[in-house]
Amino acid sequence: SAQGSVTQRRVLLANPRGFCAGVERAIDAVEQALRKYGAPVYVRRHIVHNQAVVSDLETRGAIFVRELSEIPPHAVAILSAHGVSLAVGEEARELRIHTIDATCPLVAKIHTEVTAHNARNRHVLLIGHRGHPEIIGTLGQLPDGAISVVGDAGDVAALDLPGDLPLAYAVQTTFSVQEAQQVIDAIGARFSDVTGPRSSDICYATTNRQQAVAAIAREADCMLIVGDSHSSNANRLVEIASGAGCSSSYLISDSAGIPWDAISTAPVIGLSAGASTPDSAVHDVCRALTDAGYVLEEAAGKVENVSFKPVPMTARPRPLAQ
Ligand code: F3S
Repeated sequence: SAQGSVTQRRVLLANPRGFCAGVERAIDAVEQALRKYGAPVYVRRHIVHNQAVVSDLETRGAIFVRELSEIPPHAVAILSAHGVSLAVGEEARELRIHTIDATCPLVAKIHTEVTAHNARNRHVLLIGHRGHPEIIGTLGQLPDGAISVVGDAGDVAALDLPGDLPLAYAVQTTFSVQEAQQVIDAIGARFSDVTGPRSSDICYATTNRQQAVAAIAREADCMLIVGDSHSSNANRLVEIASGAGCSSSYLISDSAGIPWDAISTAPVIGLSAGASTPDSAVHDVCRALTDAGYVLEEAAGKVENVSFKPVPMTARPRPLAQ
């Protein structure tokens, strides 16, 4: 049959892909807060790096702001999954904003770790992308200067620190597993007293999605990663696909971004999505590809059964006492 023909164009879907437990929990927190406190509920920064998710919550009464100073006193505000610095918590208290903290438990774990290292007088090297919200939040757990951010081995070489200084390292949850190892090796080669996490700080979701993309990249002629251009983990998936031998790899936010010219010569397309990409965006891309004659095929992969306890709704908003 035509279906069994060797020329059948296929889409290989990476497993696992898409939403992680931390993102689901953060979105659920906004929905819970809207139910419990009513609109508007403020959200500091994008709850996750995905415009479609943000727009959907906006239509239901969420108001996204950059800074707490944009929020009226006594309002309810949700802090995003990336985590925040201690200063943001203090600012909320000063401004009398009722915060609900949707920081992913796996990011909160890193906050606890760097605080413990600091208490033991270890300078912290934070392996991550400077300027990413998670890195800003983790830096803000400790006084200025207690943490140095390193993004690659070059940054480690450039550190102006004595070789015997007691150090500890931590890693951004969405960093590339392979690149983190290179930085850790560079740290170990330059410094004599280094401690690190018992298991990786790179979260299960990042690790599994990177492995799944690398596995199908070998078979695919072209790789499409569905995700937002601001999403660290989605960008890493594109890099990993390229690194695993699929030189034609694209980050697209939905079906409008499908590079039809580039894929016209690709019999096998690999498809995955970042941890902040909703299923609806992946379905949209799948629909466009099946309409174009591709057959969908789920690749074998790890089954995830991670879930976190819901974010507690601890805010107690009350009217201004006047
Ligand atoms: Fe948490 Fe990892 Fe998702 S740190 S928010 S489970 S990408």
